[in-house]
Amino acid sequence: MTQLLKVENLKAKVEETEILKGINLEVNEGEVHVILGPNGAGKSTLGSAIIGSPEYEKTDGKIIFKGEDITEQSADKIAKLGMFLTFQNPIEVPGISMSNFIKNALEQRNGQRIRLWDFKKQLKETMEVLQIDESYADRDLNVGFSGGEKKKAEILQMLMLKPDLAILDETDSGLDVDAVHVVSKGIEKYRSTIGGALIIITHSTRILESLKVDKTHIIVDGRVVCEGGSELIDEVNKNGFEKYEAR
Ligand SMILES: Nc1ncnc2c1ncn2[C@@H]1O[C@H](COP(=O)(O)OP(=O)(O)OP(=O)(O)O)[C@@H](O)[C@H]1O
Ligand SMILES: [Mg+2]
Repeated sequence: MTQLLKVENLKAKVEETEILKGINLEVNEGEVHVILGPNGAGKSTLGSAIIGSPEYEKTDGKIIFKGEDITEQSADKIAKLGMFLTFQNPIEVPGISMSNFIKNALEQRNGQRIRLWDFKKQLKETMEVLQIDESYADRDLNVGFSGGEKKKAEILQMLMLKPDLAILDETDSGLDVDAVHVVSKGIEKYRSTIGGALIIITHSTRILESLKVDKTHIIVDGRVVCEGGSELIDEVNKNGFEKYEAR
């Protein structure tokens, strides 16, 4: 199995508060990992730190992606290497249409221009899979989108950008039953056609039902306190995080 991502003793702080206190995480190519943990544990921070968000200062540790040390790399460079992060609260981007946003990202990722006709065709097909109305392509990205529409727009970006690793932060929160189904289909498509790896941060397990989970990590107070297979998910569903928090 080829290693895709290795996070080694990662510590990160925002202002003077240490949030990640020595995280270790290893993901091989094509694997599905789940991260669980109570509110405020540092899950979203971990995603942002891995993708190179400047908001968090890394004070110790290393992040290796595809054999390259990306600890100090910019978010742009990391995205270009093939990593994608969805946001728990996707930002609105006034003045740039969803279609142009994705086209720019794709051109940056591939380092070359794509033919408009090819792009439009691919975008249309992918939007159909996710049951997003065609008209949304020309709307400013996320502006006025409902919570669920924003989440679908992120999955659309993932499917178009074809990353080797996608980190999904609470992608199913706020989705209605039908939307969960559609987003799950999108994730299955990512798995079957692109074969990319996933790190899924979630509080709900609905989205995991159709996925084979390789490994589960529980994060409490900035540390990985327990690791296991998919059985840990059921365990947490039943008993919560109390026993981990007591450590
Ligand atoms: N930019 C920031 N400024 C101040 N505090 C921050 C910032 N980002 C994160 N934190 C703090 O770091 C801690 C971890 O936040 P994070 O968003 O990573 O938690 P989480 O595990 O994703 O929680 P949730 O399950 O609620 O999404 C929280 O206490 C949060 O308030
Ligand atoms: Mg979070």
